[in-house]
Amino acid sequence: MSNNFNRTVVRRVRGESDESRRKYRMDNRAWRFMTEHGDKDDIAFAGFEAANREALERLQHTLSERDIAHQRGDDDLCAQREVQELLVFDDPAGLQVEVFVGPTERPEQPFRSPAGVSGFLTGDQGAGHIVLASDKHEAVSAFYKEVLGFRRSDTIDMKVAPDMVLRLEFLHCNPRHHTLALAPVPAPKRLHHFMIETLSLDDVGYALDRVKACGVTQATTLGKHSNDLMISFYSYTPSGFEVEFGWGGRHVDDDTWQVSHLETPSIWGHKSIEG
Ligand SMILES: [Fe+2]
Repeated sequence: MSNNFNRTVVRRVRGESDESRRKYRMDNRAWRFMTEHGDKDDIAFAGFEAANREALERLQHTLSERDIAHQRGDDDLCAQREVQELLVFDDPAGLQVEVFVGPTERPEQPFRSPAGVSGFLTGDQGAGHIVLASDKHEAVSAFYKEVLGFRRSDTIDMKVAPDMVLRLEFLHCNPRHHTLALAPVPAPKRLHHFMIETLSLDDVGYALDRVKACGVTQATTLGKHSNDLMISFYSYTPSGFEVEFGWGGRHVDDDTWQVSHLETPSIWGHKSIEG
């Protein structure tokens, strides 16, 4: 089946605002990201769009065959998510996954970025990508590949300490180089970062200026990744995980793509900035 990472929800601890839930648009979809109050600053669920209703039915059949607990979203949940149908289940490390069809589009209210971003690359590449950490890497990797149909793009060895190297696995489910990357490490937060991609390099430069002007803590310098060739930088969200803001990612064509292994995550840049 073909999936399409389309939305994610970040659960934040209760702050000054009494608004419990906030949705964010990136295009003509009703929303792509949501924040809501919760008991931890972390990803609360990840939404993936099925290719069609038949694909959703096939997924439900697969989940049943494998004895993976799942349920159909009821009318209230579908209304809240603004989709026609959805399936809800957990991945092996406990993240709630929602696969849906029939998202709400609002072409009558064209998206206009209040920050002046020229646009975001979405469409058949979904909202962006997420990087998830867990100490159940084998089970999580098999789940996303064998149950949800993701395919490996490549792997990267990342040196996170002088004597510690992590092998990250990058997975795709559409032309985006990776919609999901998996880090085999127990981490305080399941979500290491999420990435959104703009339509022009200038959008990244303007965002870098805004980050500095607004006093947001930058996590890395501008850099270019070795696998998806994305030019991007990372900043800390108020929840402590990072957001990657980038442009120029390469695309995967499954007819010609060959899986490779890389020994460094970046061709240049992406140097850590001490907070
Ligand atoms: Fe990334």
